Amino acid sequence: MDQSKAEERVKELRSLLEKYGYYYYVLDDPIVPDAEYDEKLQELLNLEQEYPELQTADSPTVRIGGEPLDAFVKVQHEIPMMSLGNAFNEQDLRDFDRRARQGTKEELHYVCELKIDGLAVSLTYENGRFVRGATRGDGTTGEDITSNLKTVGSIPLRLKEAVDIEVRGEVFMPKRSFERLNEAKEKAGETVFANPRNAAAGSLRQLDPKIAADRNLDIFTYAIGNDKEMRTATHYEAIEYMKELGFKTNPESKYCRDIEEVISFVNGWVERRNSLNYEIDGIVVKVNSLAQQEKLGFTAKSPRWAIAYKFPAEEKVTTLKDIILSVGRTGAVTPTAVLDPVQVAGTTVQRASLHNEDLIREKDIKIGDQVVVKKAGDIIPEIVRVLEELRDGREKDFTMPSTCPACESELVHLEEEVALRCINPQCPAQIQEGLIHFVSRDAMNIDGLGEKVIQQLFRHHLIAGISDLYKLQKEELLKLERMGEKSVQNLLSAIEASKANSLEKLIFGLGIRFVGAKAARTLAEEFDTMDRLRRATYEELTAVYEIGDKMAEAVVRYFELQEVNELIDELQKLGLNMEYKGPKKQDISENTTFSGKTVVLTGTLEALTRTEAKERIEALGGKVTGSVSKNTDIVVAGADAGSKRTKAEELGVDIWEEPRFLEETEAGR
Ligand code: IVH
Repeated sequence: MDQSKAEERVKELRSLLEKYGYYYYVLDDPIVPDAEYDEKLQELLNLEQEYPELQTADSPTVRIGGEPLDAFVKVQHEIPMMSLGNAFNEQDLRDFDRRARQGTKEELHYVCELKIDGLAVSLTYENGRFVRGATRGDGTTGEDITSNLKTVGSIPLRLKEAVDIEVRGEVFMPKRSFERLNEAKEKAGETVFANPRNAAAGSLRQLDPKIAADRNLDIFTYAIGNDKEMRTATHYEAIEYMKELGFKTNPESKYCRDIEEVISFVNGWVERRNSLNYEIDGIVVKVNSLAQQEKLGFTAKSPRWAIAYKFPAEEKVTTLKDIILSVGRTGAVTPTAVLDPVQVAGTTVQRASLHNEDLIREKDIKIGDQVVVKKAGDIIPEIVRVLEELRDGREKDFTMPSTCPACESELVHLEEEVALRCINPQCPAQIQEGLIHFVSRDAMNIDGLGEKVIQQLFRHHLIAGISDLYKLQKEELLKLERMGEKSVQNLLSAIEASKANSLEKLIFGLGIRFVGAKAARTLAEEFDTMDRLRRATYEELTAVYEIGDKMAEAVVRYFELQEVNELIDELQKLGLNMEYKGPKKQDISENTTFSGKTVVLTGTLEALTRTEAKERIEALGGKVTGSVSKNTDIVVAGADAGSKRTKAEELGVDIWEEPRFLEETEAGR
């Protein structure tokens, strides 16, 4: 066959295979026997091998899995991938509806969707071609898993229109494939996956795409990430549009005219949730109109226009065999119940935190009891109650010890806390937990360095504190179990890469009391460098909006400690970045319409809430105050603006109507 003939045949085969694949994977309605597909695919593979110049990134042959990767590259999400607030009963749904109606002052329609229990991914298409697929990660930064996602047959490699679009969806493993996979694993003597969700996640986290290709993964897309062109006006239309482009969307979605319809949809699925060939863990309820969605906006973590109804937790009975103690990062000593392993909501449960001694008394828990177990929010195992009627008199009372199980120092109750604490700063259990926190996702985010590896490094005395992480040597790591050349290399590169993290990651990682991930960001943004932060006084700290007394005091106390200062000096010497690298308030405000301006908002804005308008102004360097004076630079007047507008007119202050405000703030965004 000559080159031009080959080219023609390749084109033909691709379009046939695309069509066959679409019917098979997306519509679940094959139009040719499997053998026919395989034969055509083989022919295409052969041609591409013979004429490598004809190979393309979106050829159906990439579905069998390309070359293995060395590591996953991090990708920044253009628009954050948020999570959803939860509803656990009808009342929560009605409250959500009431808040949304109050927020929009309008009638609302909803779309209900199954909440697929898999893994959220973002798929980016340029010119209709699939160019990048990423995990959700921490919502801001995910991992590039394009080659693995290309093996998912229901993810189109080429869309039916040549558009630039980012869509989001849930990758999952159908129950049947999961069972088959575990059977095969069992036969091979390998550890089985706990549930389909873990199996899907595990498959996408393989560096070798051939493994993902074998795993029979599937997807339902449920949102357009960046509908900049506002191609659709409602969520329902967005789903239709995704379908037109060739995506697989869930057929069970339902348009609901009010919350009553939502509730009956939800109740219907509580009964039928196990009837599907994939797992769902709830129902997602979304406001249909995109304009209304925009009006409602977001809280720090999740949209106000959507909520996830979680199915009632499954409850099981098992035996509480023992109560053991663990020492947390902050020294809190927590009793944990050891249970006879039992399957609850898809995973085997064998431990449940009992939190503190008071709770054990309150629930009257004894060792040897029959207990009811559930998973709170379907994740964290919890003892619901004891079945006292099943006691036979052999059950034993539990008492908390007075010394730390790890270092034997005396335990104390701090400031009337319920928790017992070990206050020995050298306590090895606390240091180990602190390290696990340090490497975790919202902190330094060091891949390959989970709880197990930290424990292993600790056991082998390779680390005794944070700074030791940055001194690990290849040779010593290679001696450990399950540490091959490649994993050691990946681990060391991940540790090295973490040195460049922006300051907030380090601040959070240090584990200062009361300083969560969000506060760490605020501190980094305000103080810019570690040096400035560690010299900050209580007054300077409390002057920062969002930093309260308790936190300010904890920060000051923390940085007074000599060992803390030594640690920071050492980390700096080891090459860790000590500066904030994120967007700075000052940078944004330098050249914008609002830099240094005082703005008053009055009347009702159509498109934004007060808070959103205020956020926009502040993000652009302006200040919002409540009353109009000669110091006011701009008055933004919405509908029904009253006396403030009149006063502004009298004083000759600049008055902007809503369209101008939107224009000015959009431009600067
Ligand atoms: S919408 C802005 N729709 O649930 C929030 N999420 O906690 C966008 N999920 O991370 C999410 N099915 O992994 C949405 N039909 C569905 C979903 C769904 C599953 C997952 C997704 C997300 C999590 C939300």
